[in-house]
Amino acid sequence: MDQSVNDPMNPASLRARDARHHFHPFTDNATLSRDGTRVIVRGEGSHVYDVEGRKILDGFSGLWNVAVGYGRREIADAAYKQMLELPFYNTFFKSTTVPAIELSEILGDLMPGFTRSFFTNSGSEGNDTIIRLVRHYWALRGKPNKTHFIARNNAYHGSTVGGASLGGMTWMHKQGGLPIPGVIHVPQPWWWGEGGDMSPAEFGLWAAREVALAIDRVGAENVGAFIGEPIQGAGGVIMPPDTYWPEVERICRERDVLIVSDEVICGFGRTGSWFGCQHYGYTPDLMTFAKNVTSGYLPLGGVMMADHISDVLHEGREFWHGFTTSGHPVCCAAGVANLRIIQRERLVERVRDEIGPYLKQRWMTLADHPIVGEARMVGLLGALELTSDKAARTRFANPDLAGGICRDFAYARGLILRATGSTMLTAPPYILTETEADRLVELSRLALDDAAAEFRRRGWL
Ligand SMILES: Cc1ncc(COP(=O)(O)O)c(C=O)c1O
Repeated sequence: MDQSVNDPMNPASLRARDARHHFHPFTDNATLSRDGTRVIVRGEGSHVYDVEGRKILDGFSGLWNVAVGYGRREIADAAYKQMLELPFYNTFFKSTTVPAIELSEILGDLMPGFTRSFFTNSGSEGNDTIIRLVRHYWALRGKPNKTHFIARNNAYHGSTVGGASLGGMTWMHKQGGLPIPGVIHVPQPWWWGEGGDMSPAEFGLWAAREVALAIDRVGAENVGAFIGEPIQGAGGVIMPPDTYWPEVERICRERDVLIVSDEVICGFGRTGSWFGCQHYGYTPDLMTFAKNVTSGYLPLGGVMMADHISDVLHEGREFWHGFTTSGHPVCCAAGVANLRIIQRERLVERVRDEIGPYLKQRWMTLADHPIVGEARMVGLLGALELTSDKAARTRFANPDLAGGICRDFAYARGLILRATGSTMLTAPPYILTETEADRLVELSRLALDDAAAEFRRRGWL
């Protein structure tokens, strides 16, 4: 008998066990085992290693979230120490823990005017919390009809019932009878895909005014908040034209509609500012966070509240909302250790002034590739639009397939990129070195060459 099947790290056996027992999120489970599951076993710095021992450059930081890179002992030690000291206590019913105090205090220091935070386990739960919190706030203010949300097509705000409803991914809505009532979706500010003949500046104003039209249709007295990601991440790293956010802010302020900045991807330095709203120069009332608050070492999310919101909530009745593990002490301890690393190593400044501009300058050279319609990057968040006709900004007939092909070629070459439709995405760790940045771009170009050859073979070019 082949002894290797008894080896717990035997790749074939791991894949078979995974296929038999593990139902994966955002995965076609039926084809997964046929296509070959990627079994990732270890991480160090900007790289992960698969079960075959291949070293792969993680151009996507896990799921946008391993900001400080893999293998940080300091975070592991903080979690270990906290587990021995107090592995769990809750934050309900007048209780708290030291790590929850410390983390909420750091968050308050990072964003002036946002003194208080509410903790959840994920970004999705953060956005579900937003729905209840905004409605509760307006009820306390004597405006209980302000219950509607304005959100955007193709936005991603998570996959709980509330998060997916705020999100504008219609294919997600089709599963499970979403969205819930009270969410109105407006056009996204994606100039390359939907800007037509307008200049980016004109299109940004047009898209912002769609927000005004939607509020006015429903009646501002019925609208609680507008929610948007500073840069739409999962939708395709969509950077709004500079005209967009200032106009959205003006429109919402004029109509007394709250602004929720979903900072789950952009928060904690991804754009080169601590929060994405600071990059675009608007001031929200509420911010959802998750991901890089712990660099993904443990699950944690939440909502940061501007003082004029939290003061009202603070003086209101009990907020009947929370999760057993809201403010989990071990996750908060990991968050504190992670944010201290980001501060001590000046990683946000590094993204803004050093590695961000370096990678951007290299990444933008990919725009000359025959199948790239646009290259863009802010901080360490980048995208490439795959196209069959640069001038006409034409997408491939089956964008998901085209993007998936390019992504798989990148992986085969030793680089993780993500594909959203036919948009290729990168979001590497903040500790990426210049050599690794060079490699990321070099491997991306090779993957584009491979994809172009495959598209030609299929008659798509
Ligand atoms: C902008 C945004 N909001 C919310 C979420 C949901 O966060 P989570 O997956 O932690 O529930 C995500 C996840 O990628 C996201 O990108």
